[in-house]
Amino acid sequence: MIAIMGAMPEEIEPILDFIGEYRSYEFAQNIYYQGEYKGIPLVVAYSKIGKVFASLTASVLIQHFKAEKLLFTGVAGALNPSLKIGDLIAARRLCQHDLDITAFGHPFGYVPEGKVFIEADRELLLLAHEVAREKGIDLKEGTVATGDQFIADPAKKEWIATTFGADAIEMEGAAVAVVCDAFSVPFFILRSISDAADMEASFDFDSFLRDSSRRSGEFMRAMLDRMA
Ligand code: ADE
Repeated sequence: MIAIMGAMPEEIEPILDFIGEYRSYEFAQNIYYQGEYKGIPLVVAYSKIGKVFASLTASVLIQHFKAEKLLFTGVAGALNPSLKIGDLIAARRLCQHDLDITAFGHPFGYVPEGKVFIEADRELLLLAHEVAREKGIDLKEGTVATGDQFIADPAKKEWIATTFGADAIEMEGAAVAVVCDAFSVPFFILRSISDAADMEASFDFDSFLRDSSRRSGEFMRAMLDRMA
């Protein structure tokens, strides 16, 4: 069973569109869609926004639906100026930019027995790069910072970019990474840029959520084509 997860309905809509037929199950106040694509059993869900909901959904996908791999599709804000709206970035590693017990002498993003950065699965990243090469898509790879804040402020954006060496910002990836890492489930997090986390971010996000989600979803489909 492969899980495909997003945070918002718009992020998983492209996936449900190409699956076509699926059954819906309610579990822990969320809906999970089960179907298949080219013979691959899939379970698809959107978590709702933020790290807590994302952790819950990832845990349910793994523990209840027995997902053996977890793929995340959705949108992100660009921190790296080379990333433009619509570009695709795969997370090589993820961190929580809003995790802060620096008062105790720890680095930002760290709590005892945790890690600042969690690495995504190498094989899934390699597969993604093969798909990108085949399709002539310029897939970027980098550090994704996650936190329970929509960033629309140049100073905050700059702080996150420099503190974590981050290329993109979103609100779920590191939570999914923590859960998958704990359960030893290989994961892959793909984001298409919807905004630049600046003063125009909320406006751009609303304008580009659908198009960017579709780009990310189409790339996921191409990855499943390779896995089938
Ligand atoms: N997801 C998409 N754009 C974002 C932003 N600017 N901040 C946080 N999450 C996002």
